[in-house]
Amino acid sequence: MDARLNFLSDAAPVGLAPLHGEPPVVRLRGFTRRFGENTIIHDLNLDIAPGEFVALLGRSGSGKTTLLRTLAGLDGTDGQDVTVPTSRAVVFQDARLLPWKKVWRNVALGLRGPDVRQRAEAALREVGLGHRMDAWPLTLSGGEAQRVALARALVREPSLLLLDEPFAALDALTRIRMHDLVLDLWRAHRPAVLMVTHDVDEAVALADRILVLDEGRIAAQDRISIPRGERGELARPYREKFLQILDGTARADGVIPFPHGIPA
Ligand SMILES: Nc1ncnc2c1ncn2[C@@H]1O[C@H](COP(=O)(O)OP(=O)(O)OP(=O)(O)O)[C@@H](O)[C@H]1O
Ligand SMILES: [Mg+2]
Repeated sequence: MDARLNFLSDAAPVGLAPLHGEPPVVRLRGFTRRFGENTIIHDLNLDIAPGEFVALLGRSGSGKTTLLRTLAGLDGTDGQDVTVPTSRAVVFQDARLLPWKKVWRNVALGLRGPDVRQRAEAALREVGLGHRMDAWPLTLSGGEAQRVALARALVREPSLLLLDEPFAALDALTRIRMHDLVLDLWRAHRPAVLMVTHDVDEAVALADRILVLDEGRIAAQDRISIPRGERGELARPYREKFLQILDGTARADGVIPFPHGIPA
């Protein structure tokens, strides 16, 4: 492992958060994932508390999506010690909407019951798209499509929301608006969140806790105790630390300006 990634490893037990007495919604012990000869995730311990917002940073190929797919149940766990809630939802970098179904039907996909359209409408209103219910996905902007993807995730009231670089394809201003939206939705629904991002500023703006994955191991973590509305300048040391850990790769990936004014 890169020696620089030991920077925060002295923070007590890596991957395990203080849990305020509540059982974690995510619990992995000694989790390992191999593809053929390659071990992608090594002996990983991870707890995520109910309602906790965790950001996952790491270089390309460090295993972030592999871990997220495991938590999403999209990858087998071979009887390993993995606990995840059954109620979970995923949003990927691309919205993955079905182009032949209207927006509300994309949100309602897989839902059952007489009030499905109403539930989809309520979710779309929450993301500011109540007026596009009957639109076709191909008529949406990238930001709107991601908002539909968020509505589709949240209409299921998941206790675990998994986000894999959900804003990476959006312009800087739209991303900042999406940060506000995600925080609003998170406050309203309180799922535990694991958000993969390459963007240190995004992680610092949104998360309660930041993890760094390196070659399939949690190499560093930190909890951000500063209220979200006050993170602007006060959070600079966190940004500097994590940028050092990532050795500047986050900047190369296109860091956006720190979004001011996000309420705590
Ligand atoms: N199905 C698979 N078969 C073989 N190797 C795989 C498979 N899925 C992922 N890998 C390998 O596992 C490693 C980690 O991939 P992963 O997609 O988890 O990285 P990542 O951290 O999400 O990267 P990025 O930031 O580029 O999205 C890579 O070397 C990848 O090639
Ligand atoms: Mg990935």
